[in-house]
Amino acid sequence: MEQYNRGFIEDNHVELVINLAHLFAFDEESWSLNSFQRLSGRYITDLESHFSYEETVLEAIGYGSLVLHKLKHQEVVSSLRKILFDAQSYQAACKAIRHLKVLIISHELLEDQEYWPLFYTSEENRDLINASEVPVTNTEFDIHHISLVRYVNLIHQRLLVGEDVDYVCKELRLLLEFMRFHFDEEEMRFKAPNPEHAHEHVRFLLILKEMINEISAEHVALDTVTPFLKRWILQHIENFDIGSFR
Ligand SMILES: [Fe+2]
Ligand SMILES: [Fe+2]
Ligand SMILES: [Fe+2]
Repeated sequence: MEQYNRGFIEDNHVELVINLAHLFAFDEESWSLNSFQRLSGRYITDLESHFSYEETVLEAIGYGSLVLHKLKHQEVVSSLRKILFDAQSYQAACKAIRHLKVLIISHELLEDQEYWPLFYTSEENRDLINASEVPVTNTEFDIHHISLVRYVNLIHQRLLVGEDVDYVCKELRLLLEFMRFHFDEEEMRFKAPNPEHAHEHVRFLLILKEMINEISAEHVALDTVTPFLKRWILQHIENFDIGSFR
């Protein structure tokens, strides 16, 4: 199973999420409907082949909820087709891309997590963070927090079995995109302007970016990475999220 896992999570998900930003990097002057539709068409084709690869792997390992998961893929693709097709101006395209990001990352982070346990040896006592340690906000963000924590646990398990630096950096870049998505969602839901909370989000993204650079230059001891993530995430929820949403 391990041989599937590396190609699977690493290449496909990283490409779909991280490369999204590069793929649709345009400004108002350089934007044209033609090239937007060409890029969108290509993105949908890539997405469909990713989903079909994912389904083949899940079928091969006998994933019990495959039918439901296939339906979720179909829903994502058909919503995206509509959103992208309806975007006929630069402003509409920007909105469509934002919507596209939310749909893709929500699927990768929240729905794909359901099958993750099949891909790594999850012994409860090897998890760095238990779900019970995560402070509760009683909002939809609790699901995000649990998903982010599970992703940190996944990275932690990779480190325990001695994964290489490049691999860990790829996983951390994906975590960075997941965190960015989660922070954006939170900030849109602030009941009142909350610059301190938003500033903490910005600060964390900068620290994580810097950390990835330092890790790839082999300046950071790998065993300090996930304990740092644990501390930051749990303290942030406790000190900022609870006050903002509860
Ligand atoms: Fe999926
Ligand atoms: Fe949060
Ligand atoms: Fe937050």
